[in-house]
Amino acid sequence: MTANDIVLRGELLRKEFLSGDTTVAALKDCTIEVLASEFVAIVGKSGSGKSTLANVLSGLDRPTSGTVTLLGRDISSLSEAEMASLRARKIGFVLQKDNLIPSLTLAENVAAPLVMSGVKLSQALRSARDMLGEVGLDHRAAQWPSQVSGGEAQRAAIARACVVEPAVVFADEPTGALDEENGSRVQELLHKLVSTLGAAGLIITHDMDLATGADVVVTMADGAIVNTKRKA
Ligand SMILES: Nc1ncnc2c1ncn2[C@@H]1O[C@H](COP(=O)(O)OP(=O)(O)O)[C@@H](O)[C@H]1O
Ligand SMILES: [Mg+2]
Repeated sequence: MTANDIVLRGELLRKEFLSGDTTVAALKDCTIEVLASEFVAIVGKSGSGKSTLANVLSGLDRPTSGTVTLLGRDISSLSEAEMASLRARKIGFVLQKDNLIPSLTLAENVAAPLVMSGVKLSQALRSARDMLGEVGLDHRAAQWPSQVSGGEAQRAAIARACVVEPAVVFADEPTGALDEENGSRVQELLHKLVSTLGAAGLIITHDMDLATGADVVVTMADGAIVNTKRKA
């Protein structure tokens, strides 16, 4: 493994939260490396620190100590504005709930990250429609989030996360609110799209099927990474 292949690295990450007058360590010295195009599943019981790890690695939240290196840059050295700009261009995030903007069509929702990064609206909408095609939603492009099913909304959220062609796509329990059939469709599309983009994927999941299909399975317990298993 060479340093060049590593797109994301967290080193000795610690995150403490103040709860009343006691300090809770949600992350305890977590070190993780994600290589280009690698699909990583993070598994572990509820409360084990998975979301905190994803939030810190994606720059949504800052660690109490330790460093995060994204594409060779130590993100703690960035200002808020630089961090926001790097996130907008290089990171996609899918949450359990789609968080689509209700007053925008699916195409406009998917186009939004491009428009915010300075792409012209007409071009952004074209790319958004292409990306909706990738997740099987061409025919839904002009509809509102309220007009589509939960599975379709989540597929649109995946298209939105991928439209800027990020280097890393994070997904925090993206199938958690879906039934089994829609969950597997969402999971397959996410995996396919991330690999088509040549991006790295970091997916938090309870779904052992998704974890089994991953290149790396990282297991967390009580704030620590207790196992990292790379496919041979
Ligand atoms: N903002 C916060 N304030 C206080 N405690 C938090 C906060 N976020 C997470 N925690 C605590 O950190 C631990 C890990 O939480 P989390 O990362 O959400 O776990 P998971 O995603 O694995 O369910 C839990 O004990 C949780 O209560
Ligand atoms: Mg969580």
